[in-house]
Amino acid sequence: MTVELAPQPALAPLAAPRPLIFSGIQPSGIVHLGNDLGAIRNYVMLQYEYEAIYCIVDYHALTSTHDAALLRRRTREMAASLLALGLDPDRCTLFVQSHRPEHTELMWLLTTVTPVSWLERTPTYKDKIANQPDDVNHGLLTYPVLQAADIVIYKASLVPVGKDQAAHLELSREIVRAFNYRYGETFPEPQAVYTSAPVVLGTDGVKKMSKSVGNTIEILASPEEIRKQVMSMVTDTERIKRTDPGRPGVCNVCQLHRFFGDDYEEIWDGEATARTGCVDTKKLLAQRITERYAGARERYAELMAHPADVDGILEAGADRLKPKAAATMAEVKEKMGLR
Ligand code: TYM
Repeated sequence: MTVELAPQPALAPLAAPRPLIFSGIQPSGIVHLGNDLGAIRNYVMLQYEYEAIYCIVDYHALTSTHDAALLRRRTREMAASLLALGLDPDRCTLFVQSHRPEHTELMWLLTTVTPVSWLERTPTYKDKIANQPDDVNHGLLTYPVLQAADIVIYKASLVPVGKDQAAHLELSREIVRAFNYRYGETFPEPQAVYTSAPVVLGTDGVKKMSKSVGNTIEILASPEEIRKQVMSMVTDTERIKRTDPGRPGVCNVCQLHRFFGDDYEEIWDGEATARTGCVDTKKLLAQRITERYAGARERYAELMAHPADVDGILEAGADRLKPKAAATMAEVKEKMGLR
């Protein structure tokens, strides 16, 4: 399912129960362009149409971060980033995963219907153990079961994510099917919702933009930092001289222009006919990214200056979810013979 990135007018909350959406994001550093174009824009847009729950997944982050102070700081920074980018606590529920302990309790129950072979063959598990060979902890293996628990504890049916989460979503669906088969229809099979930019490439132009690769454009960083990151981008590697025609179809800078103005075809034409050089196209992209996120950058600074307000929003979010989480746990325990 693909959702276009059109700006949405604010809608009045609907009276009838709305389908529930859920998504999670790791507190693993400042948000980057891939997070926003691939997922956060949909979080913002969908909060007007659905009952939306968004979670900062600090338990997941523990599989690769063991620095307590850093994790605490990044959790708050991620909350402030999401609020600055448009999540409205009156329209959605934003909370921190570890504040709702039912997630890990349900995860244990779901592990008992999840064959180990499913987890071992997950491509993200293979990537992660290759990335951190000195820290192949058990959490990396069970990571997708916790992700499934995050989603199904609220019986969410739609999950806005980038394409890199497709394998996790498929595994969540398999776990749901395994559970429903053994214990009777309990959870809906969650479906991924993609934006029109489901995979955003990093500044290297080859790999998915990702904090762990170090190829990000940090959208809430200073204009100077954004400029530095954009100017470091790899363009069309076959365009050697300024007079060589460029190939917008393979140039990541040109591709990103699609999301920053209606004139991208003109920009592509300039490149293809060598009227403009890669440096000019990058400068323009840096300028547009800076302008697009200027308001969010200001809101982020304001929120970070009032950390108690941010923490209050997160606490209220976790409290609001307690009855829903408790109801699912009661139903699941009953079905599994734990009561
Ligand atoms: P995370 O924190 O890596 O990323 C957060 C969201 O950003 C999307 N994303 C991208 N989209 C397009 N191009 C990119 N380069 C790019 N980089 C990141 C991700 O797809 C994601 O939607 N396992 C999840 C967190 C999670 C979760 C969940 C998600 C835990 N529980 C339940 C959905 C539902 C993760 O690590 O996302």
